[in-house]
Amino acid sequence: MITLSSIDKIFNENTPQEFKALKNINLEIKNGETIILSGVSGSGKSTLLSIIASLDRPSNGMVNVNGELVSKLPDYHASLYRSKEIGFIFQHFNLLESLTVEDNILAPLIPLNIDILEAKKMVNKAMKKAHIEHKASQTIRALSGGEKQRCAIARALVREPNIIICDEPTANLDKENSLKFIEILHQLNLENKTIIVATHDSLFQNLDFNSRLIYMEDGVIL
Ligand SMILES: Nc1ncnc2c1ncn2[C@@H]1O[C@H](COP(=O)(O)OP(=O)(O)O)[C@@H](O)[C@H]1O
Ligand SMILES: [Mg+2]
Repeated sequence: MITLSSIDKIFNENTPQEFKALKNINLEIKNGETIILSGVSGSGKSTLLSIIASLDRPSNGMVNVNGELVSKLPDYHASLYRSKEIGFIFQHFNLLESLTVEDNILAPLIPLNIDILEAKKMVNKAMKKAHIEHKASQTIRALSGGEKQRCAIARALVREPNIIICDEPTANLDKENSLKFIEILHQLNLENKTIIVATHDSLFQNLDFNSRLIYMEDGVIL
């Protein structure tokens, strides 16, 4: 369970540029839920994702993830929390273009210092889930946009996180690839992963699997 209590985020606090991007956010997300966070650009979606992922701290309030107060974690522990619990998928795929699909997906396993055969098994499993195993030895720059996003999904899944956070994941995809992306989310939902997607893509408005739509406007949940 992810619990957000009375979250404010104030940028440039106590300066003339002070800006309140999140205002008294209260939200409970159950394990296994799929949340679609929608709202126009600037409404605070990415800021909220950063706070859930402990990439940034709230100005006020608390974030609790499965009993751990992640909003108070020191940086080092915040990065451990992220790498263990969270898989990220972004609009820009943030892949290493000159490396192969396999090597990009392997990269998050390097700090774990595990046996290479075990690592390769984990990479293969993640590639299968993201339907990209047929491109394993291609370099990223040889892939289409949809394939790059599927590689990014596999990289996000390789450490088997329980929480998948996606920020505008289909913004650079055509409709066909967006629907394929949504189908992969559906599978992850069936595996009981917790999924949080910030998006203003209307394809997410009526998914054919269990999900909860949340609207944001000017830093507030409506
Ligand atoms: N680091 C920052 N410094 C100052 N303002 C910021 C910063 N990050 C975001 N903002 C502002 O906070 C508001 C919400 O941004 P964001 O969370 O990125 O919205 P969304 O993802 O919904 O488009 C925007 O007005 C944005 O300009
Ligand atoms: Mg955003």
